[in-house]
Formats: sequence, structure tokens, C-alpha cells
Amino acid sequence: MYDPADPALRVNPWPFYQRLRDEAPVLLTTPTAADAEDFYVLSRYDDVAMALRDKKRFSSHIRRGDFLDLPIMVNRDAPDHTRLRRITNRALGPRVLGPLTEWVQQVVDGLVGELLGMPQVEFVEQFTTALPLRVVGGMLGVPLERKAEIQRWSEAALELAAVVGGTDPDLVPGFFEDFMALVDFIDVLATERVGCPHRGDILSDLVSREAAGEVSHDEVVGLGWNYIAAGQDTTMNLIGGGMHMLLTDPLLAERLTAEPENTDDFMEEYLRLHSPTQFVLRRVNEDVELHGVVMPAGSFVHLLVGSANRDPRMFPDPDVFDLDRPNSGEHLAFGAGAHFCPGTALGRLIAGLAFRALYPHLSRLSLDPERPPRLRTRPGAYGIEHMGLLVSHDTPALAH
Ligand code: HEM
Repeated sequence: MYDPADPALRVNPWPFYQRLRDEAPVLLTTPTAADAEDFYVLSRYDDVAMALRDKKRFSSHIRRGDFLDLPIMVNRDAPDHTRLRRITNRALGPRVLGPLTEWVQQVVDGLVGELLGMPQVEFVEQFTTALPLRVVGGMLGVPLERKAEIQRWSEAALELAAVVGGTDPDLVPGFFEDFMALVDFIDVLATERVGCPHRGDILSDLVSREAAGEVSHDEVVGLGWNYIAAGQDTTMNLIGGGMHMLLTDPLLAERLTAEPENTDDFMEEYLRLHSPTQFVLRRVNEDVELHGVVMPAGSFVHLLVGSANRDPRMFPDPDVFDLDRPNSGEHLAFGAGAHFCPGTALGRLIAGLAFRALYPHLSRLSLDPERPPRLRTRPGAYGIEHMGLLVSHDTPALAH
């Protein structure tokens, strides 16, 4: 039985994934919610990569019954997807990021400074939540006074995706109200910009595209909340989980502090092992046969990205973190094919600058035994949701 909402499976899915890959690479399973449909589960690297890249046979247009048909690009096929994707590539692409790097560095330095000034800190709340929200929210033009609510709302958007995927809504109480609060929040901000001078942010840009007839108002709002929700918990997990690894592996911390140019390899290998997005959803457009099993046209499919990334057929000794792994960059944590994450460069920029800023201070930071790291057990992104750190303020002894 595969139940992606099972808290035990969410914390340690790896042995189960191995059994799936070896014994049932195409598993037909029954969801826990009574009104949700049966679905297939693919767990091997080659199969997941094939399905992600084959947009002809594997559709991204998913809804549960007659509801929850979200007007966002991750839930659309061509031609709508192509149109929204072009706009997104421009909003988040390298041409935008180059000039933003200095500002992101300032945001990172500000947060590191705040962190080092405290005796102890809830790292997820103070740092990993705050950083992507300040950057992506700042790019979008979102005022951050309500940051705790925005964080809760963006988690709700991922919980909603889990419900569309078959999770029992009772397991995520309040998700729909929180999700609608996020939609309303973005709607108000977008509506405020209608007919006003461009404010130099992504929302203004989207609103002018709406005026030019390129996108509908619902799509503007959908793109806006989608950027927040898609960028938040994913980037948070990379920073929080990566930091946990640095604080528990002194040799790794030493090596990266001495060779910060290996930060990209560190992030790729971390994402391979601990993909924030453990699975994505697809629906087959026609009968698809795989390993002797026919998934009939219309079937719903979970692609287990988190399992594909630990498939020994692709990555030898897959459960081992190896900074020098030659092919770690081939992981599927950012997806692949038409829906390959358009926030990849931004996520890497934010997390990369954060790690580089933190390396010189690692010797002053340690895990707080009173508030040990805790993985999220509610459906949504995989990752650390609480992690207390102690910050040492001892002055180093002067050398004689
Ligand atoms: C470590 C950070 C991140 C990870 C691991 C990640 C992961 C993913 C994955 C797996 C997909 C593919 C979904 C699918 O195929 O169904 C995706 C799509 C997407 N991501 Fe990311 N993401 C990250 C950061 C970001 C950031 C920072 C943003 C924007 C601010 C973003 C925006 C999006 C959007 C808009 C899509 C939909 C793309 C489409 O449908 O064409 N992501 N992401």
C-alpha cells in the first residue's frame, strides 16, 4: 500500500521506495480518500524521466473530480502552458537575475547579521522561511508585513496539490481557507496595479500583459501565487536541510568553507538525496504499457521524483551523500521536460548565496539539543520545518 500522506512514509520513504523500484515499478494503488480515484505509481529513474519528458502521452492537466482545476501553468498543457511559460521564463530568467544578484546578497547578509546577533534561533522561521519570501515576494511586489500568514498560505497551496493528488482533505484541515486567502491577497495586489504606472515588479508586468490581452485576470493571479508557493517551501528545504548537513558533518563543512566553489555540487547532491518535491502528478492521454502493465488512457499517475533520484540503476550507492558524484546534476528534483522548474536559477542563486555567507560562521553555530530538527509530516513539500540553533558569542582566545 502506498499512501503519500502517511506521516511515517513522509519522514522516511527511502526503504519503501526501494521496494517499489525492485518489486513493483508500476504500482496501481487506492487512495485513502473515498472520493479520489485509483492511481499508478512510477518509481524508477528511467520511467519517471521518460514520463516527465513525454508531454504527448503524459498530460499535466490534473483535477480531482469536477473541482480543483487550477488555472496555473503546472496544471496546463500546450498551448496554454507554452504561453504562460514564455511569460514566466522572462520573469524569472537569467536576464532578470543578473542585475538582482547584488540585492539578493544584501538580503542574505542582512539575515545572517540578524542571526548572528541572537543567542539562539529558530532557523527555519528566522532564516529559511524569511529568505525566499523576501526575495521572491520582493520581485513580485508583495508587502511582507504578513509574512507568517504568507508562509502558511503557501504551505496550503502545496497541501491543495496533495489533495488533488488523492490525499484525504481531512488530513490537512483549513487548507482550502488558507489557500483562498493567498489567492485573494494576490488578487487585491494585482487589481491595485490596474491602470497604474509600472512599479518595476513582476505583478505590474503581469497586469500590463493582461491589459494587452496576453493573459486573463485569473491567470495573472494564478501566476502570482504560483511563484510564491512553488518557490517558498522548496527553496526553504534546500537551505534548511543543507544547513543541517553542514552542522552534522564537520568534514563536509570544512571542505566547503575552504572550497566554496563546490557549493553548486553540494546543492545538487543535496537535492538529489532530499528532493523537496517528492512526487509530481500526470494523467496518461493514451494506453501506456510499462514493465508489462498497461496504464489505460485517462489513468492518473504519481511520478516519484524522490525515488527516481535514489535509483541505484542511475546513481550507484544512492543513499550516500557524495560531493564528488559525477552525475548528481542529472537528478530530477527540478523535474524535466516542458515543466522543468523555471525557478531553478533563482532557487540556486538564493540558496547558494546563503550557504556562502554562512560558511565562515559555521564554527559559531550548533544544533540546539532542546529544539532538535523536525521534518514536516503534513502533506506538501518534504523538508525540515523546525530546527533550533545555538549561536556562540565567545570571543576566541588571543594567540600568544
Ligand atoms: C530548490 C528549489 C526548487 C525546487 C526543488 C523546485 C522543484 C520544481 C519541480 C519538481 C517542478 C516541476 C513540476 C512538474 O513537472 O509537474 C517545478 C516547477 C515549477 N517551479 Fe520550481 N522548484 C524550486 C524553486 C522554484 C522557485 C524559486 C520558483 C519561482 C519563484 C519556482 C517556480 C516554479 C514554477 C512556476 C513551476 C511550474 C513550471 C511549469 O509548469 O512549466 N520554483 N519546480
